[in-house]
Amino acid sequence: MATLPELARGHAALDEARVEHLQDLARVWGLLADLSFADLLLYARKPAGSDRTLVLLGHMRPTTGTTLYRAALVGQVFEPRRRPLIVEAFEADEAVEGIVDVGSDRSVHVTAVPVRRHGETIAVLARERLQPADRPGSEQERTYLTVFDRFARMLERGEFPYHDEERLRHRTPRVGDGLLLVDADGRIEFASPNAVSTLHRIGVTRGVTGARFDDTGLGSSMLRSAFARRTAVIDEMERPDEVAVVSHCFPLLDGGTATGAIVLVRDVTELRRRDRQLVSKDATIREIHHRVKNNLQTISSLLRLQARRLSSDEARAALGESVRRIAAISVVHETLAQSAEDDLAFTEIVRPLVRVVEESVSSPLRPVSFTVEGDAGAVPGQVSTTMAVVLTELLQNAVDHAFPVEGGTVRIQLDRRTDGLSVRVVDDGVGISEGFDVADATGLGLTIVRTSVEGELGGRIRLVPVEGGSGTVAEVWVPSSRLVGPWGDSRDPL
Ligand SMILES: Nc1ncnc2c1ncn2[C@@H]1O[C@H](COP(=O)(O)OP(=O)(O)OP(=O)(O)O)[C@@H](O)[C@H]1O
Ligand SMILES: [Mg+2]
Repeated sequence: MATLPELARGHAALDEARVEHLQDLARVWGLLADLSFADLLLYARKPAGSDRTLVLLGHMRPTTGTTLYRAALVGQVFEPRRRPLIVEAFEADEAVEGIVDVGSDRSVHVTAVPVRRHGETIAVLARERLQPADRPGSEQERTYLTVFDRFARMLERGEFPYHDEERLRHRTPRVGDGLLLVDADGRIEFASPNAVSTLHRIGVTRGVTGARFDDTGLGSSMLRSAFARRTAVIDEMERPDEVAVVSHCFPLLDGGTATGAIVLVRDVTELRRRDRQLVSKDATIREIHHRVKNNLQTISSLLRLQARRLSSDEARAALGESVRRIAAISVVHETLAQSAEDDLAFTEIVRPLVRVVEESVSSPLRPVSFTVEGDAGAVPGQVSTTMAVVLTELLQNAVDHAFPVEGGTVRIQLDRRTDGLSVRVVDDGVGISEGFDVADATGLGLTIVRTSVEGELGGRIRLVPVEGGSGTVAEVWVPSSRLVGPWGDSRDPL
């Protein structure tokens, strides 16, 4: 479906400034639909010298009443004779009203209002509703319709939509949230029942009508600011008891003078409470990762203390390795503690893992350098922990066994494909014997690697000599099914 700017440019040849004016209107016209209890339709027409067909740029349904149109209408093109009232509003350059028969027993009341910018009519806004039965409406209905008429006149004078208007991050309050009508002196003329309830929550318990808006506690300078700047102003107040209210003030203008305002008020206490809860949940998860990391560090220091008391070299080395394995896991928790996500960018933890291994390279006579290539993408926390242990073992093996005489280079190659993740550790050392099979390896290192990769991750591991050179390639493959967390996007949301 074409968007409003596309239709306005394409069909009606409107330029950017004019399109923007209409977009500003489309951002706030829910307010007008609600005030008029009616559908609003925005028409533009082809420039002079053409067939002058009309195009429907937008449609807004009221939340205060029932819509006449269930279908999506935007983008439809009409012959001028099929929308005579709209054409009349364009031609006469003033608001026109009329009754249009639709079907045998239904007629629609149409009010067509020219939308002007700098004195030029660039579109026509039509309010369409079923011909109302001859009954006097409630006070609320009458008030809303009068306010709509004031906005309609502002549209004609080019005073609405406003310029440099403040906008909310979230949805703007709608009329149903609560509406106050304020006069030019800042006194409340009318308050909708929901507005009365909201005021009640912030302590204004009686005499809302006739009270000064500034005395309600809803942002005392808001009205003054809206009157002075002749544009919509937003304010949010939060009381010590956490009751929070957003107010959106729309000044009513007449030739540059503010003659009053409407203020939409919305009780956002519950919304803000949930915002705070979410923030604290994130913080809790981070805190837990942080504590896990600290606990792992405590375990490491205990093992180190124990190692110092041992006289057997073998036992000391074994504890040293355990310390290293724990360090690899704590790297993952350290990273998880930085973000509230369950996934982490695995590439980012490769460097810290290299550092863990580097610390154990004992001989400066055999320097080993490391390079990281490619990107592993996002990996769930649990898988990252396993992969961190696996990668550390492979790096440690390269350091321990590949370079008995002189130093060399270890390349870590990461490759994230649609079907999975490949992690290769390539060294240019002495290599492994022909026919080496990981399945036969009895060392603890490769046993951990094999059981982790094949058992836990459902992947594959192999060690092969570098083709046509010296050194070893250790390749780990993890299928993509393991690379999406419990909240991963591959899972059906329902
Ligand atoms: N990159 C490599 N270059 C040369 N040989 C290797 C390489 N990786 C592994 N090996 C060989 O495979 C053997 C098994 O490795 P594994 O990690 O299982 O045990 P380990 O390193 O000897 O002991 P541990 O890891 O338990 O300290 C090593 O002893 C080594 O001979
Ligand atoms: Mg090893």
